Amino acid sequence: MADKIKIGTLISGGGTNLQAIIDACRAGRIDAEILFTGSDTPGVKGLERAEAAGIETFVVDYDPIIRSCKKGINDLDLPQDFDLAEILEKQRLMPADTARERVELFLKSRAVAEKKLLDRISAYDIDLLVLAGFMRVLTPYFIDRINTRPGHHKIMNIHPALLPAFPGTDGYGDTFRYGCKVGGCTVHFIDYGEDTGPIIGQKAFEIEDTDSLEDVKKKGLEKEWELYPACIQKFARKKR
Ligand code: GRF
Repeated sequence: MADKIKIGTLISGGGTNLQAIIDACRAGRIDAEILFTGSDTPGVKGLERAEAAGIETFVVDYDPIIRSCKKGINDLDLPQDFDLAEILEKQRLMPADTARERVELFLKSRAVAEKKLLDRISAYDIDLLVLAGFMRVLTPYFIDRINTRPGHHKIMNIHPALLPAFPGTDGYGDTFRYGCKVGGCTVHFIDYGEDTGPIIGQKAFEIEDTDSLEDVKKKGLEKEWELYPACIQKFARKKR
């Protein structure tokens, strides 16, 4: 039997992509084993899916962390190895003309949450971290602590549009509202920008004039469930 790569997964919601990956691992379409599923939101359906599959789960609840940071962040709350100047220099999540105070609060509050994520993830030895509907951007603080080998990407994401078109949180909505006749999804490695990293695979579908936004989302998700396992398997094959 082929060696299996070890993957960790992060989710925020329903976890239909996670389910597709679980099913593909079981069916032998991906030579991988899922070691954990982490969520930034408690009580989501994706956590139930992981538990039903016997996968270890954890939650790092982002909302209260960010709320508390907005009331004020003491330097002692920040991770010991957090270097603001370095993260500011690397980050491409916020435009250069954003008010300095806003950027700092954003980066610091995310780093507080990301340290908690890293503490949970560090208990596992993973080859790949798969973002399966994880609705938080990750800062260079987190990325550099997962991508420890220069030039070797270890964090994969799925985006609901044909990048580089329509980055951001509502890819299918933006595709639909623009009036596109073709939509799609993209699996890519993440880098310091939002939805800008190297593309691993894409799948497209046609949008009929009569399609509603719901139709577009349904067509898109069906493509995602094929694309994500295929891209993880592509990574697994290269790794062996
Ligand atoms: C998917 O459309 C994915 O592209 C986006 O969030 C959605 C997650 O769906 N990032 P699910 O939780 O996998 O069902």
